[in-house]
Amino acid sequence: MEENIIKHNFSVNRTMRAELMGHKGMLLWFTGLSGSGKSTIANALEQTLQKKGIHTYTLDGDNVRKGLNSDLTFSPEDRSENIRRIAEVSNLMVDAGLVVLSAFVSPYKKDREKVKKTVKDVNFVEIFVDTPLEECERRDVKGLYAKARKGLIKDFTGVNAPYEPPLNPDVRIDTSETSVEESVAMIWRHIETKLSEK
Ligand code: ADX
Repeated sequence: MEENIIKHNFSVNRTMRAELMGHKGMLLWFTGLSGSGKSTIANALEQTLQKKGIHTYTLDGDNVRKGLNSDLTFSPEDRSENIRRIAEVSNLMVDAGLVVLSAFVSPYKKDREKVKKTVKDVNFVEIFVDTPLEECERRDVKGLYAKARKGLIKDFTGVNAPYEPPLNPDVRIDTSETSVEESVAMIWRHIETKLSEK
């Protein structure tokens, strides 16, 4: 089937779209345990970026799994497929010129490596929200850790499913030590000049 699909080259390209936007597109990938603070930081950062006139979009696990990926479970295979689809969607949005904030547990190193390849590493910033499991579990905002400990959720990341930490993230944040404001500032310092690079 694929051999009969031939790519069409359109006249308006990524560089032209970036020029119109006033900045380049980029993927900010937040990885970390459930309850680590990924979506909270992404939300605050998106507000800051908006105020600076930067065009953004946020994708997060709980929302995408209610729509596009509602057919997927938390098995290792389905998590990989979850991340693969999100990488493709993020790539289209980056190509359109947006700064995309994607917040997903994304526990497997090989899946995160694939995201980086899909969007090309110059457009990819890996943000490891490295909040200790004990702290995520203490917060337990959604009550899921308590359920997992009771054996009511199988394959729950950090309890009975693995999380492979990034060894060399672009930004590492431990929210038990760093405030949301400081986290936003750390990420901004990292991306500020990259946004205007050609
Ligand atoms: S991922 O592992 O495939 O990247 P994703 O980020 O989409 O996960 O979804 C994680 C969210 O789903 C968590 O924040 C949590 O609210 C919820 N969730 C439900 N079941 C699980 C589970 N077994 N493991 C991790 N998160 C789960």
